[in-house]
Amino acid sequence: MVKQQKPRPLAAGNWKMNGLKSSLSEIEKLVAYAGTVGDMACDILVCPPATLVMAAAGTAKGSAVAIGAQDCHAAISGAHTGDVSPEMLKDAGCSYVIVGHSERRADHGEQNADVNAKAGAALRAGLTPIICVGETEAERDQGKTLAVVDQQTKLSIPQAAQADAIVIAYEPVWAIGTGRTPTLDEVVEVHGAIRKILLERFGAEGNGVRILYGGSVKPSNAVELMAVDNVNGALVGGASLKADDFQGIIAAF
Ligand code: PGA
Repeated sequence: MVKQQKPRPLAAGNWKMNGLKSSLSEIEKLVAYAGTVGDMACDILVCPPATLVMAAAGTAKGSAVAIGAQDCHAAISGAHTGDVSPEMLKDAGCSYVIVGHSERRADHGEQNADVNAKAGAALRAGLTPIICVGETEAERDQGKTLAVVDQQTKLSIPQAAQADAIVIAYEPVWAIGTGRTPTLDEVVEVHGAIRKILLERFGAEGNGVRILYGGSVKPSNAVELMAVDNVNGALVGGASLKADDFQGIIAAF
């Protein structure tokens, strides 16, 4: 019989282009919370902007809160003005990096091949890539959701990836920052389709890959979303900026 491993959930916060030094107090609050709850039911991650990564890692050092970045370049170093390599992020104290977020795909024209290279680079540096996929509203309206997610997932996972070294995040683009969320049936459908791809790719190990849901997750909807089959955590934007809100989501696990 195939052993089913249910992965430990991950509550990941993506601060996007928000936060000054004063925002480190939110990480301090989170660290204190994670410390007092004792055996947390999920892993906790905050991805602040690059300017705060090193200080945030210092604040969170030795705690249950991990620090990650929001993007990386695929190269180790070199003539890439403005970019940051995964090795630099690792050196700064990161353990995760988000790659292929829809805002990167839209604002910077990142294609699946770019996301694949960045995820592979993250693995090279010893970081866990959180590989984002998700359809636009127009794609959903045209009935293309599963086809888009299938392509993005298959083409964005690097060849060298082991199942336990990556995280997938399904974020319908139309649900990001809009307050709108898919129905639970829609979440079941897409997460089930992603799990199938992971099982085809990794065999039974594919059950161990965490598939996060992202897009307007907040304390009031976290419990129902996190209870959905094959939802192994959340990627949270707006509601991760304040420790109180994020804790409300962490408590849903
Ligand atoms: P949101 O963003 O929670 O503000 O909708 C999610 C994301 O883009 O990761």
